[in-house]
Amino acid sequence: MANLSTSYLGLTLKNPLIAASSGITSKVKNLIELEKKGVSAIVLKSLFEEEIVTEMKDNFNKMGNQGFLYPETLDFYEHDTLEEESSVKYLELIREAKKNIEIPVIASINCVTAGQWTYFPKEIQNAGADALELNLFILPTDLKRSSQENEQVYFSIIEEVKKQVSIPIAVKTSYYFSNLLQMLTRISESGIQGLVMFNRFYSPDIDIEKLEITNGYVLSHPEDLSLTLRWIAVLAERVSCDLAATTGIHGSKELIKVLLAGANVGEIASVLYSQGFDSITKMLQELDSWMEVKSYASIDDFRGILSQANISSPAAYERVQFMKYFKGYKE
Ligand SMILES: Cc1cc2nc3c(=O)[nH]c(=O)nc-3n(C[C@H](O)[C@H](O)[C@H](O)COP(=O)(O)O)c2cc1C
Repeated sequence: MANLSTSYLGLTLKNPLIAASSGITSKVKNLIELEKKGVSAIVLKSLFEEEIVTEMKDNFNKMGNQGFLYPETLDFYEHDTLEEESSVKYLELIREAKKNIEIPVIASINCVTAGQWTYFPKEIQNAGADALELNLFILPTDLKRSSQENEQVYFSIIEEVKKQVSIPIAVKTSYYFSNLLQMLTRISESGIQGLVMFNRFYSPDIDIEKLEITNGYVLSHPEDLSLTLRWIAVLAERVSCDLAATTGIHGSKELIKVLLAGANVGEIASVLYSQGFDSITKMLQELDSWMEVKSYASIDDFRGILSQANISSPAAYERVQFMKYFKGYKE
C-alpha cells in the first residue's frame, strides 16, 4: 500500500478524498457509511445564512430595512419555507457527527452578506467542527452594484468570520470573476487556509413542451473537470493556502489529475449520488494501484508536478482557442 496521506487546512488526512457538501452529508447515518467506505473528511451540508437569521425573526423588519437581506431572502421569510430551528439542528448535526465518526468534520455556511449571522461560526466551532467551509457566491445580476462592491463582500465576510473562530477556514468559490486569478489570489491572502474550486450551481433550464422553467443538470459529469483542472494548475505554487478541487471528479483518473495539477484534496458529490458510496473505495484502490505502477510512495511524490509553474510549457494551460490544435478536426 502506498502512503495516501495528505494535509489539508492543517489537518492530517488519511487520503486526498473528501465528501463534499450535499444533501448526503446532512445525515449522520450517511456520514458513518462515508467514513467506512474510506473518505478522509466530510463537509457537512451547508447551513444557509438565511436559516441562521431566521432565528432572529424579531429583528427581521429592521434588517430588511437596513439592507442586510436580499430580496430573495425576504421572499424566503414571506413564504415561511424555512424551519425555525435549522441552526440549532445544524449544531446538533456537528455534535452527532463528532460523536460517531473519527475523520475531520468540516462545517459549511452558504453566505452572501457580512450581516448579523456572523456570530454563528463561533457556535459551530464550539460544537466541535474541525474546520469551516464558507460557500460564497454572489451572482452579479444587480446592475447597480459595481464589481468592486460585489468583490468587497467576500472580504468583509471573511474578515467577520475570522474574528469569530480559530479553526481553519476554507472558501468555496465560483469562477464568475472578471479577473479570476487575481481575485482568488487576493482571497487566498485574506488569512484563510484553503480555496475550494469550484462550486457547482443550480442552473435553470427550459422545458420546450410545457414552456416552463425547469432544473438544469443537478449532477456533474467528468467532462466538467476541465475548468477546475485548469485553474487548480494555474493557481498551485502561486498561493500559499491549500487547494481543494471540486466539480467533475467521478473516478480515480480525475482525482489523480487534480493532484498532479497541485490540489491537496478532491471533494466529491455527484458520483456519490450516481454511483453510490462504493465509488469511494474503488477510487482509493485505483489511486493506490496507479501510485504503485508509477513508483510513487506518497502523494507528495507527485502532487503538483503538472501544475503550471512546474511544466516546461506553461502556455499549455493558457491555450483557449482551438485554431491550431484542432485544425481539420472531423472536417
Ligand atoms: C444535490 C447537491 C447538493 C449540494 N449542496 C451543496 C451545499 O449545500 N453546499 C455546497 O457548498 N455545495 C453543495 N453542492 C456542491 C457540491 O458540494 C460539489 O462542490 C459540486 O457538486 C461539485 O462536485 P461534483 O462534481 O463531485 O458534484 C451540492 C451538490 C449537489 C449535487
